Amino acid sequence: MRIEPLSPNAELRALLERCGLPVADLAASASLQCYGVQRDGRLLGVVALESYDAVALLRSLAVAAEARGLGLGQALVRFAEREAAARHIGRLYLLTNTAALFFAKLGYQATARETAPPAIRMSAQFSGLCPASASFLSKRLED
Ligand SMILES: CC(C)(COP(=O)(O)OP(=O)(O)OC[C@H]1O[C@@H](n2cnc3c(N)ncnc32)[C@H](O)[C@@H]1OP(=O)(O)O)[C@@H](O)C(=O)NCCC(=O)NCCS
Repeated sequence: MRIEPLSPNAELRALLERCGLPVADLAASASLQCYGVQRDGRLLGVVALESYDAVALLRSLAVAAEARGLGLGQALVRFAEREAAARHIGRLYLLTNTAALFFAKLGYQATARETAPPAIRMSAQFSGLCPASASFLSKRLED
């Protein structure tokens, strides 16, 4: 299945909402790039990068319930990592309430919030949309 750039349209928002992920800041994030996988005209999975120079938030990872367990989530993360590395982003950060173990298997490590770069700290996800109890993880990318 091909992973392609996607605008944050109504279908994407609906998928994120069904997966319990924030949508309030999608329009406001100028640095946001979304990628999605479609089958038969239906959006099955999505991931996004919110980039700030040499770092980015990996966010909005969601796979439709009927397409889970097939490797799509991992493929979307790996795709976002390749895209980020191609843009010379050296580290990806993320917040998650429910999938810390999923990301740990992909090499993401628990990270102290105080060490987050200012741009990440000021993002809507970090500063308000994700609860303080959310896990904060990061991964260094190879060039
Ligand atoms: C997390 C999510 C993207 C995984 O997508 P997926 O396509 O089912 O994942 P994959 O098929 O690539 O990977 C499946 C593997 O991940 C594990 N996994 C899936 N969801 C997990 C979770 N929430 N926590 C821990 N492990 C998880 C599965 O047990 C499986 O492990 P295995 O390979 O050892 O058997 C999907 O469950 C989802 O959309 N969840 C709701 C939204 C969310 O939590 N997003 C992440 C926060 S940004």
